[in-house]
Amino acid sequence: MEQFLNKLLEKNRAKCQFGSVADYIPGLDKADRNHLGLCIMKTDGTVQRVGDYDVKFTIQSVSKPLTLMLAILDNGVDHVFSKVGMEPTGDAFNSIKKLETHDTHKPFNPMINAGAIATTALIKGRDAQDKFRRVLEFFRKICENDTLEIDEDIYRGEKETGNKNRAMGYFMKGEGYIDGDVEDALDVYFKQCSILVTAEDLARVALFLARGGVLSNGERVVSEYVAKIAKTLMVTCGMYDGSGEFALMVGVPSKSGVGGGICSVVPGRMGIGIYGPSLDKKGNSIGGYSLLKDLSKELSLSIF
Ligand code: DON
Repeated sequence: MEQFLNKLLEKNRAKCQFGSVADYIPGLDKADRNHLGLCIMKTDGTVQRVGDYDVKFTIQSVSKPLTLMLAILDNGVDHVFSKVGMEPTGDAFNSIKKLETHDTHKPFNPMINAGAIATTALIKGRDAQDKFRRVLEFFRKICENDTLEIDEDIYRGEKETGNKNRAMGYFMKGEGYIDGDVEDALDVYFKQCSILVTAEDLARVALFLARGGVLSNGERVVSEYVAKIAKTLMVTCGMYDGSGEFALMVGVPSKSGVGGGICSVVPGRMGIGIYGPSLDKKGNSIGGYSLLKDLSKELSLSIF
């Protein structure tokens, strides 16, 4: 199996030269475009790691399904979806367009920046610091990794350059979709995106969802229903405005981030974590995407 995975990985590493690393957040551009790593964790306990599976990178938008689950635990499903929708946008992840033009002015879904900021704003805590402490604790639990920390430089870069996110935050506050302090919500959002992970950490997140919300020690953290909400939104909105094509080509609930991560869930079977910072035009890992296409075909992974 390892030999087979290595072969697929090296074949797809060649694709990395056709993309580029994100540079709109200072610090992200330091990544090596040719890195590609894969970790597969099966529900039977088998683990496979190949390529650059142990390189650290910022989780970015792969954080979004996690904060969604925490926001639901804190507030219940109905309250969360009174502040954020469930529909794909077909627009770029950082687009502001539909916030203004759609009649409700409600952010479309929790997987795009606007909806994720509204979701993060729902997380409970005394202040921004306390809220982020709870977020980090939750991420550590799901990743089964107590050493997770943020990359301070990327966090500062996000905060300094995140003016479009800031604009969306204030717009949503004006429309009543954010109740508390906008700067606090943004601060927690920038921090959650700056958490350092590896492909192995993302495989754990995926395995957790593949097992319907249960850790490897058998502890249930979220209900089957909450895990299902996260997986469903990952299918419809998780790969940005490339989610439709991805569902057809790969066919498993997945979430990508501009740091190069992809977390892919094969329900009941396995969790897959990918790192490949060279991105295609939509912001998805170019090598990771094509590696997942091959894996899906070879291992018959599509849920459809
Ligand atoms: O807000 C941003 O632009 C980044 N912190 C997250 C971007 C990302 O990975 C794309 N998300 N959907």
